[in-house]
Amino acid sequence: MKKTSVTNLPFIDLTSQQNLIRENLDLAIKRVLSHGEFIMGPEVLNVEVELAKRSNTNFCITCGSGTDALTIPLMAANIKKDDVVFVPSFTFTSSAEVIALRGAIPFFVDIDSRTFNMDAENLESSIKECLRSGGKPKAIITVDLFGQPVDFDSIISVAEKYNLWILDDAAQSFGANYKSKPIGSFAKVTATSFYPSKPLGCYGDGGAILTNDEDLFNKMKSIRTHGYKDKLRKSETLGLTSRFDSIQAAVLLEKLKIFNNECVQRNKVAEIYTKELCSILKTPVVIEEAQSVWAQYTIISDRRDSISSYLSGKGIPSALFYPFPLHLQKPFLGYPMPKKGLPFTEKLATQVLSLPMHPYLDEDTQYFIISAIREAIKG
Ligand SMILES: Cc1ncc(COP(=O)(O)O)c(C=O)c1O
Repeated sequence: MKKTSVTNLPFIDLTSQQNLIRENLDLAIKRVLSHGEFIMGPEVLNVEVELAKRSNTNFCITCGSGTDALTIPLMAANIKKDDVVFVPSFTFTSSAEVIALRGAIPFFVDIDSRTFNMDAENLESSIKECLRSGGKPKAIITVDLFGQPVDFDSIISVAEKYNLWILDDAAQSFGANYKSKPIGSFAKVTATSFYPSKPLGCYGDGGAILTNDEDLFNKMKSIRTHGYKDKLRKSETLGLTSRFDSIQAAVLLEKLKIFNNECVQRNKVAEIYTKELCSILKTPVVIEEAQSVWAQYTIISDRRDSISSYLSGKGIPSALFYPFPLHLQKPFLGYPMPKKGLPFTEKLATQVLSLPMHPYLDEDTQYFIISAIREAIKG
């Protein structure tokens, strides 16, 4: 029967997932409690092997958060004061914060208004402007926003032309594919987050770095723990405390067993949203040969605030990612951006609305959400 009301509808349903694997989670956590190696225990090494395999890369380093997974490569590559790193403004704080914290300069680049991801043409014109003004371009941080890979072919060709390396912020896109290959090996380094609400999330903070570059891998591994090279605890460089917990690794190992299935389910949910909504508002566009993991399903509408409050009245949660572009926020004021500004970023910030999205969203509930959106638009 068609649903006519909902209560406590979650934006992301972690409870259904937990119920599905609860027994195995309990056993896995119990094993950690028994062996007592709470930090960097055997589960951590196992999950690093699994994550490298899953993403087709040679090396994986787990660490304390997605933010650390971005910081560590910048430290290893010696990104420092006055170096310029190109990054979108339409993203989560960390993507640019990690650059500024190194004393380097985030140069904000505009996005493609259909995909929310960095626009390759805008990137190239930004690099030219930076060079003309005497800046020192060093790297690019791409962000696979909402789970969709950036247009790697176009971005990589610009990066190669100007001899810049790419750090891919895949905090939202672990599990996505580009040209039939998993996210992880397109950029020189890929960083992801295991924050609980991410497509692959643990039950605390966590992150991972993926690379095929052995030299960089060794440097990053040492930076993760105070610049130590071996167990003698003698620092070779400055580093961090960014080790991964065994309990979190144990949780991830269990979640990885159902992850492929969950990615398929997320795509089914997204397909239904797009099929049912594309004629009444702007739905997200996935570029050719890419497959999103749908960390968020984000619609575009000039009436997003009224849609959001109508949904809220019906018990349907929605969220704004991201209403405040970074270049307009206090810590980032004054950093460079293209002379023409960031018109797509600023416009989309007023139009985006993310809908409930998770692998356990049943069709009845999803059609209830879709009907409510139709009513909101008619009203
Ligand atoms: C695009 C993006 N980058 C980086 C991060 C930072 O990850 P964490 O919260 O694990 O530090 C997030 C987390 O929300 C994110 O969405």
